[in-house]
Amino acid sequence: MAPFGLCALLLALAISIRPILTHSWVEQLVRIAPNGTMIAPAGYIRGYVGRTEPGFNDAENTYLLPPNGRPDGKVVHSDDRICKATQQIGNYSEDYPMLHVARGDLVALRYQENGHVTLTKSNANVKPDKSGIVYVYGTANPLASDTLLGIHQVWTADGQGGDRRGRLLATRNFDDGQCYQINDTPISKSRQIQASKEAEDPQGADLWCQSDIRLPCDLPRAGTYTLYWVWDWPTLAPETNNQSAVVSPEIYTSCMDINLDDFSQSADQNVNFIHEQDANSRVIYEQLDNNFI
Ligand SMILES: *[C@@H]1O[C@H](CO)[C@@H](O)[C@H](O)[C@H]1NC(C)=O
Ligand SMILES: *[C@@H]1O[C@H](CO)[C@@H](O)[C@H](O)[C@H]1NC(C)=O
Ligand SMILES: *[C@@H]1O[C@H](CO)[C@@H](O)[C@H](O)[C@H]1NC(C)=O
Repeated sequence: MAPFGLCALLLALAISIRPILTHSWVEQLVRIAPNGTMIAPAGYIRGYVGRTEPGFNDAENTYLLPPNGRPDGKVVHSDDRICKATQQIGNYSEDYPMLHVARGDLVALRYQENGHVTLTKSNANVKPDKSGIVYVYGTANPLASDTLLGIHQVWTADGQGGDRRGRLLATRNFDDGQCYQINDTPISKSRQIQASKEAEDPQGADLWCQSDIRLPCDLPRAGTYTLYWVWDWPTLAPETNNQSAVVSPEIYTSCMDINLDDFSQSADQNVNFIHEQDANSRVIYEQLDNNFI
C-alpha cells in the first residue's frame, strides 16, 4: 500500500473543508456587434472597485440579501435596498465609466462563476439547477430608495407590475452553459475544451459567464437608464430541485446606469453570428433572439 503522502493529506483536507466560494457581481457590460463579438469599450456597475486596485477585496462589489447575521435569520426585509450602499445612482469614476449604448442594442453583462458552476458539488446546500436565475430589470426613473421586494418578482415584462416605474427586461440561467474557471472538475475540463481560448486579460484563463440581452427599442435617444441585475440563488429543501421549495433566500445584486445615445451597434441589424471566433469576446448565440429563458 502506498504511504499516506502529503498529496493525499492535502486532498483529504480539501474534501473535508468546504471551500469558501466568493460571490459574483457584474464585472463589465459590453455592446455586442451583429456578428456576436463584444465591442470595447466596456462599461461598469455603479461604485465598481476593480480587481487590480490595491487592497482589493470581494466585499467591495458583493451585495448579499438577506445579509449574514440578521437576528431574525435569513429574511429579506421590506426596506432592504436593491442596491449596495456604495452603488448609489450615478456613482461612476473615470476609470470605470457607464456603458454608452443605444436603444435596441445587444448588451452582454459579464460576471465570474466563482465556483458556482464548476464547483457546485462542494456546496453542502441544495441549490437550483443551472446555479439559479439572473433577472435583469430596467427603469428610466430609479430611486435611491428602491427596494428588492418592491421590484424583484414584482416588476413585469409589460411594465404593469408593482409601481410601474420599470420592467423586467430579461431572465437568464446563471450558468450560461459555457463559462468556467480553471480547475480539475469534469465540468471545467470539458468546457475548457468546448470553449477553448488563449488566456487574455481581464479574464485570464477563465471564461466569464454572460447574460446577453437586447435593450428595449422604445428607450429615449439620450439620458441615462438603469439596470438592476438580480441573481436569485436560494437554498432549496433537500432532495428537491423545486424552485418554489425555498428554505432560505440568497440573492446578489449589481446596480448600473447606462448612457443612452444615438449610435447603435446592432439595433437595426439582423444577427449574423460568426460561430468560429475568439471565445474571449464571443457572446452566446442562443441568447440573442430572446431575452427570456
Ligand atoms: C465583428 O464585428 C465587429 C464590429 O464591426 C468587429 O470589430 C469584429 O472584428 C467582428 N468579429 C469577427 C470575428 O469578424
Ligand atoms: C462610490 O463608489 C466608491 C467605490 O465603491 C465608494 O468608495 C464610494 O463610497 C461610493 N460613493 C457613494 C456616495 O456611495
Ligand atoms: C414545489 O414546492 C411547492 C412549495 O413547497 C409546492 O407547492 C409544489 O407543489 C411543488 N411542486 C412540485 C412539482 O413538486
